[in-house]
Amino acid sequence: MPEKALEMKNISKSFMGVHALRDVSFNAYRGKVNVLIGENGAGKSTLMKVLSGAHTMDSGEIYIDGKLVDIKDPTSAMESGVAMIYQELNLCSDMTAKDNVFLGREKVNGLLVDEKECERKTLELIKEYEMGFHPNDKVGDLPLAKQQMLEIVKAISKDAKIVVMDEPTSSLTVDEVEHLFRIIKKLNANDVTIIYISHRMEELFEIGDYITVMRDGELVGEWPIEEVTKDSLVASMVGREIKDIFPKQQVPIGSTVLEVKNLTKEGVFRDVSFSVKSGEILGMSGLVGAGRTEVCMSIFGALSRDGGDVYLKGERVDIKSPADAMKKKIAYLSEDRKLMGISLMNTIRDNISLSNMEQVSKNGFMVKAKEEELSNNAVKMLSIKTPSIYQLVGNLSGGNQQKVALAKWIERDIDVLILDEPTRGVDVGAKQEIHSLIGEIAKQGIAIILISSELPEILGMSDRIIVMHEGEVKAEINAEEATQESIMSYSV
Ligand SMILES: Nc1ncnc2c1ncn2[C@@H]1O[C@H](COP(=O)(O)OP(=O)(O)OP(=O)(O)O)[C@@H](O)[C@H]1O
Ligand SMILES: [Mg+2]
Repeated sequence: MPEKALEMKNISKSFMGVHALRDVSFNAYRGKVNVLIGENGAGKSTLMKVLSGAHTMDSGEIYIDGKLVDIKDPTSAMESGVAMIYQELNLCSDMTAKDNVFLGREKVNGLLVDEKECERKTLELIKEYEMGFHPNDKVGDLPLAKQQMLEIVKAISKDAKIVVMDEPTSSLTVDEVEHLFRIIKKLNANDVTIIYISHRMEELFEIGDYITVMRDGELVGEWPIEEVTKDSLVASMVGREIKDIFPKQQVPIGSTVLEVKNLTKEGVFRDVSFSVKSGEILGMSGLVGAGRTEVCMSIFGALSRDGGDVYLKGERVDIKSPADAMKKKIAYLSEDRKLMGISLMNTIRDNISLSNMEQVSKNGFMVKAKEEELSNNAVKMLSIKTPSIYQLVGNLSGGNQQKVALAKWIERDIDVLILDEPTRGVDVGAKQEIHSLIGEIAKQGIAIILISSELPEILGMSDRIIVMHEGEVKAEINAEEATQESIMSYSV
């Protein structure tokens, strides 16, 4: 067995009486990829935030290279050689790559760092890891995958020996994931220890060396990757067996609800036409960046376009804003929870009430009992893990935030529901719950557009599938005829 680069011993942490971590011990082996998995709310991010100094633990000990360390804050974590790459990257988008790398470190060892030296050092790392961008590129112009690589440069330029990646692949294309994995392997070769959190089972077996499972704030176990299977992992994560079945219900499909014709936005999407019927689930497949989100945002009035028309139940409509779209009974669940989905500073109840005003108010006044009923129902229906409906959404785990975003829409009176990556960052059990919920919504006669980058999800849930590539619709396939291979061949 390789040496332990990190030992976290008996870590406990609670937030206002809620135990997020209970006596958790976690090891990471030097120069390896140490995977951390568990259901939404299991405590993975919290454990890593303790390590990176974002949270202080209530009790426990942390050893790095066998030495007890005192991690009080992000600075002391960095001094101990720990860097964490968050899902919401921590970069200044109007600055260059190299300025981001040296931000806040204009002085190193008491010496002023000069521009040229920054550029040279950044370039050296970019080259060594074959990342393919330039130190003087503006961060905002770089695709997300490169920005993430820049975070890695930042970490190793600070001599991080342990790099934590929290769900790094959730917004990457297949190629970008492969690229990231090559970089990870190279980091390992340079003795950097990686801690890797993900809900994507398949990739764990590709990249992982050791795997630790957490459940309900506790440690379940730790194994070398060779000793586990997907089924054994799922069973230890959720404590019950879950199969890859999609509870797609056969529901009667009615008449066309939404039709779009020749939607065009210069340089983004071109001549996009499709329709979706009542009770139907239209899957939108394609690689990340194919333009699916942009097309749907334009239907929803959140993005302007240069041409094309939208029809609702046969009538041409002019939707100018999301508020307009909502009035016309179109709902959109954004892939970016922070951007359009939910308000992190508000409670679960307020988030759900605000998008369901008609249901929870009477004569213009909010009725508390109705608000509570609606929210409690949603929490139960989606198994949202929270002490109460009065919890701030920002304090929920990532996957549970996603469930709240979905809950905001499901109780509304709507005709069209656009779901953009509804199960991103959601654990296996919750995924299945969300899938059956989507089926229930279709059963109510709502027309659903499902954008998903996961082929099994698209194949399992859709009645009809359109495949987009570089802003154009490349194919329309009936679900019975679609296969992973046929969809992939149109996506590239
Ligand atoms: N700042 C906070 N205040 C209150 N509760 C919190 C806070 N941060 C986390 N929690 C709670 O701690 C528990 C663990 O959350 P954590 O974010 O660590 O889960 P996770 O395993 O990362 O889940 P996911 O896969 O959904 O990201 C959850 O119940 C969460 O609601
Ligand atoms: Mg998390």
